[in-house]
Amino acid sequence: MKNKTNLGLSVFLFFFCLATVTSDLEADRRALIALRDGVHGRPLLWNLTAPPCTWGGVQCNSGRVTALRLPGVGLSGPLPVAIGNLTQLETLSFRFNALTGPIPPDFANLTLLRYLYLQGNAFSGEIPSFLFTLPNVIRINLAQNKFSGRIPDNVNSATRLATLYLQDNQLTGPIPEIKIPLQQFNVSSNQLNGSIPDPLSGMPKAVFEGNSLCGKPLDACPVTGNGTESTGKGKSDKLSAGAIAGIVIACFFGLLLLLLLLFCCCRKKKKDQNVQSRNIEAGPIPTSSAAVAKESEAPHTVANGAPPPPSENGGSKNPAVSKDLTFFVKSFGNFDLDGLLKASAEVLGKGTFGSSYKASFEHGLVVAVKRLRDVVVPEKEFREKLQVLGSISHVNLVTLIAYYFSRDEKLVVFEYMSRGSLSALLHGNKGSGRSPLNWETRAGIALGAARAISYLHSRDATTSHGNIKSSNVLLSETYEAKVSDYCLAPMISPTSTPNRIDGYRAPEVTDARKISQKADVYSFGVLLLELLTGKSPTHQQLHEEGVDLPRWVASVTEQQSPSDVFDPELTRYQTEGNENMIRLLKIGISCTAQYPDSRPTMPEVTRLIEEVSPSAGSPGPLSD
Ligand SMILES: *[C@@H]1O[C@H](CO)[C@@H](O)[C@H](O)[C@H]1NC(C)=O
Ligand SMILES: *[C@@H]1O[C@H](CO)[C@@H](O)[C@H](O)[C@H]1NC(C)=O
Ligand SMILES: *[C@@H]1O[C@H](CO)[C@@H](O)[C@H](O)[C@H]1NC(C)=O
Ligand SMILES: *[C@@H]1O[C@H](CO)[C@@H](O)[C@H](O)[C@H]1NC(C)=O
Ligand SMILES: *[C@@H]1O[C@H](CO)[C@@H](O)[C@H](O)[C@H]1NC(C)=O
Ligand SMILES: *[C@@H]1O[C@H](CO)[C@@H](O)[C@H](O)[C@H]1NC(C)=O
Repeated sequence: MKNKTNLGLSVFLFFFCLATVTSDLEADRRALIALRDGVHGRPLLWNLTAPPCTWGGVQCNSGRVTALRLPGVGLSGPLPVAIGNLTQLETLSFRFNALTGPIPPDFANLTLLRYLYLQGNAFSGEIPSFLFTLPNVIRINLAQNKFSGRIPDNVNSATRLATLYLQDNQLTGPIPEIKIPLQQFNVSSNQLNGSIPDPLSGMPKAVFEGNSLCGKPLDACPVTGNGTESTGKGKSDKLSAGAIAGIVIACFFGLLLLLLLLFCCCRKKKKDQNVQSRNIEAGPIPTSSAAVAKESEAPHTVANGAPPPPSENGGSKNPAVSKDLTFFVKSFGNFDLDGLLKASAEVLGKGTFGSSYKASFEHGLVVAVKRLRDVVVPEKEFREKLQVLGSISHVNLVTLIAYYFSRDEKLVVFEYMSRGSLSALLHGNKGSGRSPLNWETRAGIALGAARAISYLHSRDATTSHGNIKSSNVLLSETYEAKVSDYCLAPMISPTSTPNRIDGYRAPEVTDARKISQKADVYSFGVLLLELLTGKSPTHQQLHEEGVDLPRWVASVTEQQSPSDVFDPELTRYQTEGNENMIRLLKIGISCTAQYPDSRPTMPEVTRLIEEVSPSAGSPGPLSD
């Protein structure tokens, strides 16, 4: 009896749910038709007898409209009140049309909206503050419109916001105190005035230009002695002579104290016979390769030519964590900082984050050491971040063994990969008898690297690799991909990283420390194209006058057959798998889509590569 009623209830619920789903799609359909009928300009050619999910620019998920993309389709006039009824909408793009009028008030109902692209229209009126209370919004692009009035004060309510583009409008007033960590921001070419809030002072100058703004990173704000204070923060308090005198005196004593502290520190350091720290601190970074090379000639001589340290020194016995290496994996063998510095070393290469060395110990252990350059985070944060990295483990990630932090030296110790990097293998000296990489090996490398990055992305939405390129894909003895240099980017000063010349960086990236997962996907796409074409993304750009690898591939595949782009070494002996090569090429092309939203996610990419890769079943060894 009871079972029967339960069954009845379930059946009822099932049909009830079905009914609500279809009626919601019906509501979506009505809203889209209201939009089509209400907007001017070139008509939207939607086949009303077909389901709305098949209409141009409309994308559905689970039977509801989740994305509406109508870029550059010639729409004009104001938007009708209709879109607010698309309650499952996550992406809305009307960029580069000729739409006018205000943002309709019903946008406030788009609670699932993540991406809003309205740039390149003639929208006017004030920027509605409800945009920033949409709980999921990640990107807002209102650039190149006619918005006026002030930037709403509640920008900080959008806690997930990463991109705010407001350039080329007619906005006035000050920039509000924005505290959320924006990755992309631009307010240039408006009529803003006042001072730039402190949290934004690290942005490039260009994003503020074309306004009457002042303060870091632009010129300092004029200090007016009289009551007419000109900062946007509304601090109109003037400094009395007494206060000024107070500040001067405080500064003087502060300086004195600082000098005293410094003096004490130096003396203490001199007393402290900590040999290792002296060794490494002595060598300035540019000469480090020379210093280490010297070490390799005479393993027992200290790098800077100082007498060798006494055989038993305090360093390794010191219980303080900061004085020696912090280990994550002990199974790689026992060594300490002193031993590491005395091991014979060989320069492996100069990377974006610093130089790498191969360190070989006398008892046969070999590790790779990276000397990080321009670390910008304080010690505590560095240690926390490294602790997280040390907990990451995946067959396709190079294992982090240990690290060392001191004021002048930051080292990370990785497992050593005997086959070197994919970059060296692809672009190395072809005459030196290296065996060509066949399709199976290349597909296996692509899959391994994809799995590693996918794994990093799965940790949480903010974790990204940050520096994907072929020189950071190392290969094990069996040509298994091992990705290195992961998640270091946020700790390194962006001035030390070359801007976009590396050919892997996504077009939207402005700060090398903040690489999104979608930017990782772009870099990975370039890597795939490199793997298939055998062309280095860096070289290509130089040779083809500013054309990067994705654009070169696109232009060749449009004009000729796709197989014309493949590395001749790959196609010469290959009769099978050509179809899968083209599929992998297409995956690479989709990853390098210009707009981040058009790129697939890393798990999707991995799944697609599994379909084309001959070795997908086993993540294990590939035939040599
Ligand atoms: C939007 O939804 C409301 C309430 O369900 C309805 O009254 C209105 O007609 C809908 N508007 C459009 C344009 O579909
Ligand atoms: C519109 O869609 C219907 C149903 O899918 C189809 O039969 C019809 O041919 C389409 N009309 C046009 C003009 O494409
Ligand atoms: C948002 O949706 C609710 C419920 O459907 C409706 O009552 C309200 O009018 C909508 N708000 C706007 C601004 O359209
Ligand atoms: C900001 O916008 C201006 C004007 O469109 C543009 O020239 C500049 O390159 C942009 N800067 C960034 C970092 O997006
Ligand atoms: C500040 O005061 C001085 C003298 O009191 C005056 O000459 C000057 O014009 C004032 N500046 C402003 C910006 O009011
Ligand atoms: C900014 O401009 C407005 C309007 O032009 C003006 O009223 C206001 O005083 C200016 N604020 C500052 C800090 O210069």
